[in-house]
Amino acid sequence: MSTYHTPVLAQTCTEYMQLQPGGVYVDATVGAAGHSLTFLQACPQIALYCFDRDAEAIAEAKSNLQDYEEQIHLIHSPFSGMRTQLALNKVASVDGVLFDLGVSSHQLDEAARGFSFDRDARLDMRMDDSQAYCAEDVVNDASEYELKRIFKEYGEEQQAGRIAKAILRARNDEPIRRTLQLAKIIESVAGSGTRESLKTKLRVFQALRIEVNKELEELETALNDAIMLLKPGGRVLVMSYHSLEDRIVKNRYKEAERGCVCPPRQMVCNCGLKPRVKVITKRPVGASEEEIAANPRSRGAKLRVAEKL
Ligand SMILES: C[S@@+](CC[C@H](N)C(=O)[O-])C[C@H]1O[C@@H](n2cnc3c(N)ncnc32)[C@H](O)[C@@H]1O
Repeated sequence: MSTYHTPVLAQTCTEYMQLQPGGVYVDATVGAAGHSLTFLQACPQIALYCFDRDAEAIAEAKSNLQDYEEQIHLIHSPFSGMRTQLALNKVASVDGVLFDLGVSSHQLDEAARGFSFDRDARLDMRMDDSQAYCAEDVVNDASEYELKRIFKEYGEEQQAGRIAKAILRARNDEPIRRTLQLAKIIESVAGSGTRESLKTKLRVFQALRIEVNKELEELETALNDAIMLLKPGGRVLVMSYHSLEDRIVKNRYKEAERGCVCPPRQMVCNCGLKPRVKVITKRPVGASEEEIAANPRSRGAKLRVAEKL
């Protein structure tokens, strides 16, 4: 399992989850099942619903969780389908939900999936290969305005407009089908061989990945659903790896903690919204120096936990 993906903050997540025998839990992003396995080892008497939109991850999780067949339910679905899928399994409420967002090391390392700008592959970037829409479609079909928006909004890229223009120029000559082809186009704007140009390529590729997999929309929907599904005292844990995701989590928790959305000057509340959660982690929890040394991909992790009232 360790070559597929090393779980981040696995013990910390297990402690925050406060697993109870007989409880029902969700691992919304099972991947290679590192967190699921740690949960089951800590408290084997739970029911665990494991989601992933990547069929390969579900197969890997199945093999890694083979000692716990009775306790687990593996579901190949995006986590935005969590409510529907749990309802189909006659589960109306749960004791805890974990989101370990983003892509696994395996997905990143497998050149053919097209997530990396330094390994030649088709511009794919789909986490779920049954989905039709891929990075090649975005790069060749989106308007200049749309490309600029994607790079600016999802990559927070300063040169978004110039890169969008360069893509339009290049695709007038021939379709852009390969990762290295796109990397060269980005280099024509940002230069090559410098730290800054490397970061620009990272940001543009990240933006395309977020667009292809609708990652922010997925998170918004599923986080609301998770809060709704939790039993009183149940916890939602979200581990994010970039500021856009972390902002969504922080704001969604804040809104759910505040309840009322009436303007501050209004004396009497008429929205009727009550606080639904208490935020347990006032500041996000990150990986320790030791964990970062052992697993550099844990560096950017930010864990935020909220508890249902
Ligand atoms: C960081 S990895 C999770 C690793 C896992 N916790 C482990 O210990 O092996 C993220 C996983 O979430 C999946 N994923 C990302 N977005 C998803 C979504 N919207 N719905 C379902 N799965 C998703 C990815 O396919 C990937 O396998």
